[in-house]
Amino acid sequence: MRILILGGTAFLGRAIASDALVRGHSVTCAARGTSPTPAGAAFVRIERDDERGLTPLAGEAFDAIVDVSRTPRHVERAVRDLDADHWVFVSTTNVYARFDVPEQREDAELLDELEDLDDPDDYGRAKVTCERLVRGASATATVVRPGLIAGPGDDTSRSGYYPWRFAHPTGHDVLAPAGPDFPTAMIDVDDLAAWIVDAAERRLDGVFNATGPTTTLGEVVRLAAAASGSTAAPRWVDPADLAAHGIAPWMGARSLPLWIDDPDWRWFATLDTTAARTEGLVTRPLAETLARSLAYEAARPHSLDGDASRAGLSDGEERDLRAALEGAA
Ligand SMILES: NC(=O)c1ccc[n+]([C@@H]2O[C@H](COP(=O)([O-])OP(=O)(O)OC[C@H]3O[C@@H](n4cnc5c(N)ncnc54)[C@H](OP(=O)(O)O)[C@@H]3O)[C@@H](O)[C@H]2O)c1
Repeated sequence: MRILILGGTAFLGRAIASDALVRGHSVTCAARGTSPTPAGAAFVRIERDDERGLTPLAGEAFDAIVDVSRTPRHVERAVRDLDADHWVFVSTTNVYARFDVPEQREDAELLDELEDLDDPDDYGRAKVTCERLVRGASATATVVRPGLIAGPGDDTSRSGYYPWRFAHPTGHDVLAPAGPDFPTAMIDVDDLAAWIVDAAERRLDGVFNATGPTTTLGEVVRLAAAASGSTAAPRWVDPADLAAHGIAPWMGARSLPLWIDDPDWRWFATLDTTAARTEGLVTRPLAETLARSLAYEAARPHSLDGDASRAGLSDGEERDLRAALEGAA
């Protein structure tokens, strides 16, 4: 199969390219070239911000094109200018209008589309618009809606923070947001990539939630401690205390991941994945993904102070929070 990945040089796109190469497919990655291309793939330099930025791909025909864009204008140009028998569009679970209801299927209410096709920042609405553009232009298209993508290459540290923190405790315990029954889910990047290549091979037509099984924050923390071999115990901190000390949910500077302190978002990680699993999505045990995330985190620098692109507390931030909580007690 000739497969084009629009992107293909970053986290998920790279994993898709690597999986397709192992299967013997001919893989082309098209991007601006800020990251290296996976070994064995062809690289074509493109600039999707330009009206005619896909010209280097003109005249090429592909069996499948995979697009990871979040900018509707980029997708509009791609379906206008490129030729493929099948499209795979990587969307997101953020397309749904509500997360105050559990276990939503793919036909749940979506956000409204964007009016400005050049705006990638209104993420969920941008992806809704991208989905419609791909489905409207292609005879067959797989629209994949992943939840949190985990494992090697998750440079947001959302999947890797707790394993890494247990491996590097700043005291006798590891601070985590109460309560441990908060629902969460993550999908290993390589499981998702493998299923996306399957979908391209089979020209699978439809829309699919793609997350790992729903579990709890408490279970993630338990497995994270086990993956690190740590003897530190979790300490569940009241969200009111976290807010009082400026600790943010989910990600960004001074944050604790895999938790959102907003009842309207409580069920965001509980989507129904029956459709994808019926079509062959297989996900590995969470313990294995967390161990892979730990290995990834161990191999990169860990000064989190002031880094808004990463989730978690720096050593100093965790120590300060513990001291403040103990001072207040
Ligand atoms: N991470 C998560 O937990 C999560 C959860 C749900 C859904 N998703 C979705 O999963 C996908 C993740 O894919 P990814 O990790 O491969 O994506 P990514 O990190 O967004 O990478 C974007 C790719 O597109 C290229 N690119 C960016 N701007 C470009 C431009 N103007 N012209 C040409 N190429 C450009 C980049 O390479 P250059 O910079 O070299 O151009 C890179 O290869 C995204 O669709 C995301 O929305 C992610």
